[in-house]
Amino acid sequence: MTRDNGRIKGVNTRLTHSGHDPHGFHGFVNPPVVHASTVLFPNAATMAGRAQKYTYGTRGTPTSDALCHAIDELEGSAGTIAVPSGLAAVTIPLLGFLSSGDHILITDSVYFPTRHFADTMLKRLGVEVDYYDPHVGAGITALIKPNTKVVFTESPASNTFEIQDIPAISKAAHEAGAIVMMDNTWATPLYFKALDFGVDVTIHAATKYPAGHSDVLSGTVSANAACWPKLHDAYVTLGCCAGPDDVYQVLRGLRTMGVRLAHHQKSTLEIARWLEGKQGVARVLHPGLESHPDHKLFKRDFSGSSGIFSVVLAGGGTDKAHAFLDALEIFGLGYSWGGYESLAVQVSLADRKIANGPYEGPIIRLQIGLEDVADLKEDIAAGLAAANAVG
Ligand SMILES: Cc1ncc(COP(=O)(O)O)c(C=O)c1O
Repeated sequence: MTRDNGRIKGVNTRLTHSGHDPHGFHGFVNPPVVHASTVLFPNAATMAGRAQKYTYGTRGTPTSDALCHAIDELEGSAGTIAVPSGLAAVTIPLLGFLSSGDHILITDSVYFPTRHFADTMLKRLGVEVDYYDPHVGAGITALIKPNTKVVFTESPASNTFEIQDIPAISKAAHEAGAIVMMDNTWATPLYFKALDFGVDVTIHAATKYPAGHSDVLSGTVSANAACWPKLHDAYVTLGCCAGPDDVYQVLRGLRTMGVRLAHHQKSTLEIARWLEGKQGVARVLHPGLESHPDHKLFKRDFSGSSGIFSVVLAGGGTDKAHAFLDALEIFGLGYSWGGYESLAVQVSLADRKIANGPYEGPIIRLQIGLEDVADLKEDIAAGLAAANAVG
């Protein structure tokens, strides 16, 4: 239940009030954290017919409903599932929508563990897997086969931040009878409302901006009305539900996601712009920059940008990248992103077959946290100085 009476419009207002009606639970502002396996039925007939809202912990609780309904409001989706990690949010819909003999097209710039899942489990289960250029656009038609069931997108690309023409891809996929899934983690539903652009199933590593504090693993998957029954069926069949404390933490993070994202966006754009043209920097890969080759497409479809982008160093190899990383004091060296703190990692494109450059030098991915920009710039400047000293 929500308190949407037709007046609630702004995104921060929706983030603040969606998913839970305090008056549905004694006026408490936040929903209860329901730890549950068993749910009791009042009598045998109700039990036999499963004729009540909640029937067993794996099938949803008031806590998971609060999060899923909040995501539905943001996405405009017919239904959402909450699962234990962002990677599970990728694998569960793929298992739900693909069968032996089916074909899937995946962007070559996909998050590596998605590729790994496709190349190992999906192939073992008899699914044909092919990769495509993230810039394919309407050209995806030529790659679609009679047995293509899913076109998997991720935009911007992991680590290299190419923007995909999602409306063109969706149109071509739908004409051929395939559905489109999108890993929409980078933009969140605040900056890209995937279903409005033709996506059928939208995926979020809620570990990142929704949770926002680097202390929770979580994922959500949302579907339009046509795909929701199949997605829900996969969720119930696999039993892969998120735990109540994690679900609660994501909902808690969601309340402040709008203000955090606005801060991430502003700081990140300022740092990305400042980095352009700095000695030792060949290119900055951030679609919100006018210099980015996909900037026009980005402006057409996205209403904002978040907090990670990459820097291509001007020449050199891993020794230069390591010098950069080892000189950082504020940026932590670690995976993931979307938390409050800044992180840096050297990117590997070893898995790529198509979207692999060439790039002028090693690529460093930066997640810009909520620290003060002046401090972050000083830290990055120390990194660049160390990298430049390697020669
Ligand atoms: C684009 C993208 N999708 C999914 C995931 C997986 O999220 P999780 O770490 O929660 O499994 C990540 C994690 O880095 C990611 O970058």
